[in-house]
Amino acid sequence: MKKRSQQLTGDGRLPGDLDAAEMIDRIIRVDHAGEYGAVRIYEGQLAVLKDPDVLETVEHMKSQEEVHRQKFEDLIRQRRVRPTVLTPLWHIAGFALGAGTALLGREAAMACTEAVEEVIDEHYQQQLDQLGDDEIELKKVIETFRAEEIEHRDIARADGAANAPGYELLTTAVKSGSRLAIWLSSRI
Ligand SMILES: [Fe+2]
Ligand SMILES: [Fe+2]
Repeated sequence: MKKRSQQLTGDGRLPGDLDAAEMIDRIIRVDHAGEYGAVRIYEGQLAVLKDPDVLETVEHMKSQEEVHRQKFEDLIRQRRVRPTVLTPLWHIAGFALGAGTALLGREAAMACTEAVEEVIDEHYQQQLDQLGDDEIELKKVIETFRAEEIEHRDIARADGAANAPGYELLTTAVKSGSRLAIWLSSRI
């Protein structure tokens, strides 16, 4: 095992700290991408759904996603994090996912929301486990947003997500896509 004390960098940080900085970059980059994509999913659903009470529900979730996205846009600027190069892809893919599932019906739109939010819930929890006490503010942001994602998941469940046609196949596909998007957006 290498002696860490001999590896101090120019500014006095240990190599492990550099990894921590990279970890924070990745967290902010991927969360920004995810919240950006979430707004686009709900915009896609709103473009298709017609029932006034479902529109109201989706508008409510979208308005919370807009707050989430704005916060990570601020963090990207404040902490000089490079955003993912994939933003234009999530612009299109998010909208297509929202509109596409809504075309299958209200329940399919809700199944999409349930699947995405389940993945985000897990993902935010993993980040909370990774972050140390020196990142209390960021942790608070993630905790608050995670609670709202769980609320979205529960709204989708209460609104009949499980009755969607091809529920198992649909939610499995949406979860795989969401995990791939997370993997890519944290890295590129
Ligand atoms: Fe969100
Ligand atoms: Fe959400």
